[in-house]
Amino acid sequence: MLNIRIEKTKNPKPLPAADDPLKFGTIFTDHMFIMNYETGKGWFDPRVVPYQKIELDPSAMVFHYGQEMFEGLKAYRSEDGKVLLFRPDKNIERANNTNRRICIPEIPEDIFLEAIKTVVKVDEAWVPSKPDTSLYIRPFIIATDPYLGVRPADTYLFMIILSPVGPYYPEGLNPVKIWIEDEYVRAVKGGIGEAKTGGNYVASLASQVKAHEEGYSQVLWLDGIERKYIEEVGAMNIFFKINGTVITPKLNGSILPGVTRDSCIQLCKKWGLTVEEKKISVDEVFKAAEDGTLEEVWGTGTAAVVSPVSHLRWENKVSKIKDGGIGELSKKLYENITGIQLGKIQGPDGWIEVV
Ligand code: COI
Repeated sequence: MLNIRIEKTKNPKPLPAADDPLKFGTIFTDHMFIMNYETGKGWFDPRVVPYQKIELDPSAMVFHYGQEMFEGLKAYRSEDGKVLLFRPDKNIERANNTNRRICIPEIPEDIFLEAIKTVVKVDEAWVPSKPDTSLYIRPFIIATDPYLGVRPADTYLFMIILSPVGPYYPEGLNPVKIWIEDEYVRAVKGGIGEAKTGGNYVASLASQVKAHEEGYSQVLWLDGIERKYIEEVGAMNIFFKINGTVITPKLNGSILPGVTRDSCIQLCKKWGLTVEEKKISVDEVFKAAEDGTLEEVWGTGTAAVVSPVSHLRWENKVSKIKDGGIGELSKKLYENITGIQLGKIQGPDGWIEVV
């Protein structure tokens, strides 16, 4: 057991009103978790403190070379009032994979989980209960040495902040339009594409701005070498249903291994569907759209959950997926995944952790 010091706020904020739409990532709870690291000393002083600004030296390494990682998971309010976490072990495993890739010291899994549970418990009242809402949990680590040379840092801060959220997209659960990027690339095999680190997201911004200007919500990335194979969307992994088969790009080192992605694959297989994790080219997808065998397209992510896609744009072609509505399988996946997350549907063993 970790000895986590808890200092409660003397000025609690009012909880969001029942009709607040909880715009993604804009509201923060009363407390946060912090733990320090120093080479030779390891991780130390785990604490839950009032949510507050932090002071860093302008030369802190995170500002200059981007040595930082983050995760995203959610806590849900079940009908009987319990607070549930969805597959936190997968996020923790991925966090340490990211840490290894970018030379941040790993955090023992039991300590990571205890930190999440402790801060969520302290701010339990902030876990919303309206449909399609949850408490988004954002763990992250930053390099804090005041130093301008390029090397792994010797000091870090691990923090967890919490944000009650509604749907990630302004479209809510309605289908989103996706722009397949033909100018820039996000990542290449051997790079940091499979790590959850800010660099991958900053690389996506210029394309996202361009896509937004054209009325598209998100960018879909092709592989960085041949620029023909589908990889992932800015904040989601991507799935296609073609001729009855569920297809998603195979993890190849440059794609983020999503927890919702893995959950969708497991559920589809359990329902008897054929699931193929393989290389799929943008040509194949557009051909399937033209010959009518592209039945559904959807994205998956912790923030986005299961998000149906209505249009794909690539170069000068725009393909509308079927009637542009919510596909049957995406709907079933959305209902089942959220049902499991809320404790209404029994999921596979180990998917739910009670706080
Ligand atoms: C998540 O789904 O949790 C993510 O990290 C995506 C994010 C960039 C909003």
